[in-house]
Amino acid sequence: MQVLHTVAELRAALAGKSGVGFVPTMGNLHDGHLTLVRQVKQATNGPVVSSIFVNRLQFLPHEDFNQYPRTLTRDCELLEGAGCDIVFAPSEGELYPEPQGFKVHPPAELADILEGHFRPGFFIGVSTVVHKLFNIVQPAVAAFGKKDYQQLMVIRRMVVQMGLPITILGGETTRSPEGLALSSRNGYLSAEEKEEALRLPRTLRQLIAGWQAGQRDLAALEAVAAQRLADHGWQVDYMTLRRQHDLGPAVEGDALVALGAAKLGKTRLIDNFEL
Ligand code: PAF
Repeated sequence: MQVLHTVAELRAALAGKSGVGFVPTMGNLHDGHLTLVRQVKQATNGPVVSSIFVNRLQFLPHEDFNQYPRTLTRDCELLEGAGCDIVFAPSEGELYPEPQGFKVHPPAELADILEGHFRPGFFIGVSTVVHKLFNIVQPAVAAFGKKDYQQLMVIRRMVVQMGLPITILGGETTRSPEGLALSSRNGYLSAEEKEEALRLPRTLRQLIAGWQAGQRDLAALEAVAAQRLADHGWQVDYMTLRRQHDLGPAVEGDALVALGAAKLGKTRLIDNFEL
């Protein structure tokens, strides 16, 4: 496996190669990322590239950009074990040699709700870096985890609307044996908080169970779910049931997804389940 740090090196390594597979990451990898690498490897015969880049553009000033764990050596070992062929780990100056004035602005109806409402500009930062990485890597196939459900939806729409010739794969969320969705941010949790964190997936399941039992007062169902977390000290951004295809409000007969985001102590966690 090669570890490359410049765009020029990456372009030279990929020259003449087709069917490139791609898994963009911010590093501090866990099994969820490695599953995406394996998924992409199965989907293409070309080389598999994974990028590691903590993208300042998608963090708000008060968020954890500086604190975000940088664990390149360990990440490379894990990626090699998962069958990755090339790690692209550019410096900030390499990816953003000048202030990134040109940005990708996803439409408000996709990107200003839920995560975008609570993290304004987040999807501009994500779409801009992913579009730029797509231009650099020129993959045929790329994979993103369903854990970041809205991100996956925004990227799928970007690829369609920008005419990018890339197949986007969505990877199922990888969970701990107890049911906690794997996330690089779980590392911020104390042992006690890790236990309490299980309340998020459990409460999403309860929200789904309420809907499946025939309760149709969505606002009430969502409020009960939020209160269940708040009662245990969580600061809730949203607990909600939406349509899978556009994250509009849940409507009978549509494929639905329950999504939640809440802060436990200093750590913001998100999770979701499709139904
Ligand atoms: O999901 C992530 O890790 C990031 O948002 C991504 C897609 C690598 C863009 O920085």
